Amino acid sequence: MLKGKHIILGITGSIAAYKAAYLIRGLVKRGAEVQVVITPAGKEFITPLTLATLSSHPVISEFFSNRDGTWNSHVDLGLWADAMLIAPATASTIGKMANGIADNMLVTTYLSCKAPVFVAPAMDLDMFAHPTTRRNLERLRSFGNRIIEPAEGELASHLVGKGRMEEPDRIIEVLSDFFETRKDLAGKKVLITAGPTYERLDPVRFIGNYSSGKMGFALAEVCAERGAEVTLVAGPVALGISNPAIRRIDVESAEEMYQAAREAFPGSDAAILCAAVADYRPEQVAERKIKREEKGEMTLRLVPNQDIAASLGAMKREGQILVGFALETDDGVSHAESKLRRKNLDFIVLNSLRDPGAGFRCDTNKIAILDNAGTRTSFPLKSKREVASDIVDRLVTCLR
Ligand code: CTP
Repeated sequence: MLKGKHIILGITGSIAAYKAAYLIRGLVKRGAEVQVVITPAGKEFITPLTLATLSSHPVISEFFSNRDGTWNSHVDLGLWADAMLIAPATASTIGKMANGIADNMLVTTYLSCKAPVFVAPAMDLDMFAHPTTRRNLERLRSFGNRIIEPAEGELASHLVGKGRMEEPDRIIEVLSDFFETRKDLAGKKVLITAGPTYERLDPVRFIGNYSSGKMGFALAEVCAERGAEVTLVAGPVALGISNPAIRRIDVESAEEMYQAAREAFPGSDAAILCAAVADYRPEQVAERKIKREEKGEMTLRLVPNQDIAASLGAMKREGQILVGFALETDDGVSHAESKLRRKNLDFIVLNSLRDPGAGFRCDTNKIAILDNAGTRTSFPLKSKREVASDIVDRLVTCLR
């Protein structure tokens, strides 16, 4: 799967840099072409001679060569790559990537790179656990970068914990799996709704919910990677998306989401309704900020919003597949079954707020899929990306 693939391998200043030699050997053995870009600190841990010999390419570290003035174009390099892998990635480089501090060839190349980026962190356990590192990694995830989580084990400090760069064989497997991805949604158009909706009260306030949009965005990415043309109707979220096969339409309210979804659905083969849509909106939207002194005690009158899923269910054509979500706190299965019928869905994804690690804002989820033939399939706790793959597997089966 890696045969003929162009891989930029970014190496930074960590003791795990020695593993880069094994990484290059493994990638080259599988037919990939590897171009090493190393930071100045990286060169303290492994020599460019070793890396150049293993990769059969001169190692790039500086913007230009002092010797003959040769200019290393990070733009050309970014366009050449089928993937960029940064392994090991130190806390410092992760911080620079998250904040666009392009003071070396590696980060500049990262900013120019249009290909998928894989990041394998390596650092001491406390550095890895620090809120700054967590936030920066979260930020990279939100850019669509894939983080290859470090393993637990003995670290260079002799402390034991999480921070050890994942083993080269495993990293190569992640890349290989990525390129192996079946294009089983090629030629299909998928509509996805994601995130919360905000229902305006006045120019500064709204009624919303805790949805982060992570599940819907993971679904959009997986569908696009598997060959689909995706229309992603997103409520207000702090997430980015980089795949050019995803057309993103940003909306704020349930009404805007309803209009965008109804417009896209007739041309779609499937719709996955992942958004946490507000069921009600204030009957009146104040034009000016509501003032406390003028109001005293306040009663809000709410009116129902359109049920997007039910409305698409009513207009569904033969062969179109409609997938819904049910996030429940109690009696999950019976609520999910009732929504499946009521909204004319083909299957529904049930997750419970009672399961630790499932539901809003986390990076993981635990789901069960209930279909209209009455079968129920439960899955263990997984990352939202893996959960998205499981859901897309079922979608592909339905579309056949
Ligand atoms: N949904 C929708 N439009 C709405 C409400 C919900 O499209 N106005 C979709 C959600 O995206 C999800 C499914 O319907 O796929 C179930 O959402 P949920 O909020 O659980 O269902 P409700 O019918 O609103 O039921 P309740 O809030 O009473 O649990």
